[in-house]
Amino acid sequence: MSKVLVTGGTGFLGAHILVQLLNAGHDARATIRSMDKKDRLLKMLQAGGARSEALELFEADLEDDNGWAEAMADCDYVLHVASPFLPEAPMTKARSSARRETAPYGCCRQRVRPASNAL
Ligand SMILES: NC(=O)c1ccc[n+]([C@@H]2O[C@H](COP(=O)([O-])OP(=O)(O)OC[C@H]3O[C@@H](n4cnc5c(N)ncnc54)[C@H](OP(=O)(O)O)[C@@H]3O)[C@@H](O)[C@H]2O)c1
Repeated sequence: MSKVLVTGGTGFLGAHILVQLLNAGHDARATIRSMDKKDRLLKMLQAGGARSEALELFEADLEDDNGWAEAMADCDYVLHVASPFLPEAPMTKARSSARRETAPYGCCRQRVRPASNAL
């Protein structure tokens, strides 16, 4: 069985993935932005019939470098599904700025930089 980190465990995809991983017998980890959301997540997993004893939670925010190395230590896989809401629309900035504002594959640097904290 694998040890898998899911970023954004409180999200729609994150919680569903965690249920699948835990029910399949994997050791799952999840990042959440605040431990205040832990009980909500555990209730969602319980509703999905998941065994939450095999779940480890780590506090980490994509806007910050802290917590990611610990969350990923010894993991076999990372499923990065956390998705930050940006304070301004990326395309507006990309359109109004020079090409240097645009990251590869058409993504805006604003979205890529937070993801790189996790990756
Ligand atoms: N849902 C779908 O059917 C679907 C289909 C295809 C693609 N996607 C893509 O998959 C991604 C996730 O979708 P979703 O439906 O699961 O979204 P969601 O329910 O809104 O979940 C987003 C998750 O990201 C976390 N998050 C937000 N900002 C963060 C930050 N700065 N640092 C760390 N975590 C942060 C949220 O945490 P909090 O709980 O703390 O806010 C939440 O756990 C999105 O990019 C979406 O476009 C979704």
